Amino acid sequence: MVESSPMGIEKVSKSLRQNSEHVDSFTDQSTGIGVQKIFLTTVEETHIVGAKLARAWLATKRKLQDQSNNKKILPIFLLTGDLGTGKTNLVKGIGQSLGINEPITSPSFALAQHYKGHVAGQPTALVHVDLYRLENQETADELFAQEEEEAHLMRALLAVEWPERLSFTPKNSWKLQLNFGHEKFINTKRELIISTT
Ligand SMILES: Nc1ncnc2c1ncn2[C@@H]1O[C@H](COP(=O)(O)OP(=O)(O)OP(=O)(O)O)[C@@H](O)[C@H]1O
Ligand SMILES: [Mg+2]
Repeated sequence: MVESSPMGIEKVSKSLRQNSEHVDSFTDQSTGIGVQKIFLTTVEETHIVGAKLARAWLATKRKLQDQSNNKKILPIFLLTGDLGTGKTNLVKGIGQSLGINEPITSPSFALAQHYKGHVAGQPTALVHVDLYRLENQETADELFAQEEEEAHLMRALLAVEWPERLSFTPKNSWKLQLNFGHEKFINTKRELIISTT
C-alpha cells in the first residue's frame, strides 16, 4: 500500500510569477483551491512552462527522498483540454527537465510510453499516457492503475492526457488545464490553468 502525500505547487507558482508577466493567481470560489492562470503565447513558451513544472516536481521528489519518504506517491500530472490545445507539447517541455534525449511523441496509438533520462547523474523516468481512445471507463481505469503502479515503482513522473476518460479524479495530482486563446487555430495563444486535486 502506497501512502499519499498532500503536495502543493507553491514553488512552481512562485517561479512562474517571478518570470512572467502573463500570470494571474486566484482562488476558485467553489473549491477554495488556489489556481494559477498562465498565458502562453508560443509553443516554445509552453515547452518552457512544462520544463518548470517538471523542475518543481523533481524538487518535490528530492524532498521526499531526503525525508526517506520514498513510499509516498509523487504528484501525477493530469493534462486536460481539447484536441490540439498543447498537452503533448507541455510534456515535451517536461521531458527537457527530466533529461530525456529521446523525442517525445504523442502516445495516442501506443496509449502509454515510457522514457528514461538523467539529471545531475541521477536517473529519471517519465510515463506518458493518453487515454483519449479509451472511451470505456473501466478500460481507462485499468490502464491508469497499471501505469500508476509502474510509475510508482520507477519513481517516474506520470503525465496523463485525457484523464476525463477515468471514472474518478486521481488524488495528489497537479491538474494542468489547457485552453485555446480566443482565436482558435488562428494563432498560438493558449491559457494554462494549474490547480491541485
Ligand atoms: N502555445 C502553444 N502551445 C502548444 N501548442 C501550440 C501552441 N501554439 C500552437 N500550438 C500547436 O498546437 C498543436 C498542439 O498539439 P499537441 O499534440 O501538443 O496537442 P494535444 O493537446 O496533445 O492534442 P491531443 O488531445 O490530440 O493529444 C501543435 O501543432 C502545436 O504546434
Ligand atoms: Mg496529445
